[in-house]
Amino acid sequence: MAIQWFPGHMNKARKDVAERLKDIDVVIELLDARLPASSANPMLARMAKGKPRLMILNKQDLADPAITEQWLAWYRAKTQTEALGMDAGERAPAQRLIAACRALAPTRSGLEKPLRVLICGIPNVGKSTLINSMSSRKIAKTGNMPGVTKNEQRIILEDDFELYDTPGMLWPKIEVEEGGYNLAASGAVGRNAMDEEEVALELLKYLLVHYRADLAARYKLDEETLEGMQDWQALELIGKRRGAVLSGGRINMQKAAEIVLTDFRDGQTGRITLERPDEWAAWEKRAKAI
Ligand code: G4P
Repeated sequence: MAIQWFPGHMNKARKDVAERLKDIDVVIELLDARLPASSANPMLARMAKGKPRLMILNKQDLADPAITEQWLAWYRAKTQTEALGMDAGERAPAQRLIAACRALAPTRSGLEKPLRVLICGIPNVGKSTLINSMSSRKIAKTGNMPGVTKNEQRIILEDDFELYDTPGMLWPKIEVEEGGYNLAASGAVGRNAMDEEEVALELLKYLLVHYRADLAARYKLDEETLEGMQDWQALELIGKRRGAVLSGGRINMQKAAEIVLTDFRDGQTGRITLERPDEWAAWEKRAKAI
């Protein structure tokens, strides 16, 4: 699948982040808990090498709690990176976040050496929402506009704690095919930059294996009927159930795809995570072998 992922102005964002990183003590990367590995920026990992990092798995209210636990453990064990789960509805997330950052850079404290923290994340991952909920003032504009960059902001959370918010920085190429589909399913990719039917079919393929009961419950289908079904058959069935039918009785697959994607994004299909650490490792290995 070809998705338009790296628009020209992203090069400027990369340069801005590289410049900013020089005087940063801790890097926070906000990930989507439903697709932690796909939403992680490999370019940032390289650029921030050597700096203490904190991974936040945001939107955990939409993700499968058991798999979020797997990912948090994976980050801590495999990458020696601190990791926290979070969601926009949480009260006072700043306290947890500040404490985690301070623990990562214990020598930085006091007014002379304020702790400087950079927060990064792909568009739509919930960066503005989190920053707003951490700050008493409305300082970052929230919205659902993947690919739109905002200017860097400095937010003083405590007298000796400065948070730098950068414009979204994407990476040039999606190496793992499944990662591209997962990003598209999550809404991180603009509508014009992907084929919604293809993305919905990939999503259904995964749900049929891992979340068949949720799928059956959402669309009032029989779980046994879904067993062994192909993704396109499931899409047709959902289209039929939801009245996405064209004249002559044909299923409107585009409409059915939109329904499946919107339900997933809004959490209506259930708490779902599209990748597990062991699956991701296998996908990555295969992508590298190609
Ligand atoms: P960004 O700055 O990273 O681009 O993302 P932003 O905060 O604008 O959030 C993108 C969308 O994701 C928003 O929804 C926001 O409410 C939602 N969101 C952010 N964090 C969470 C979370 O932890 N859980 C859930 N369920 N949703 C989250 P929207 O539809 O664009 O706007 P609205 O519904 O807030 O009006």
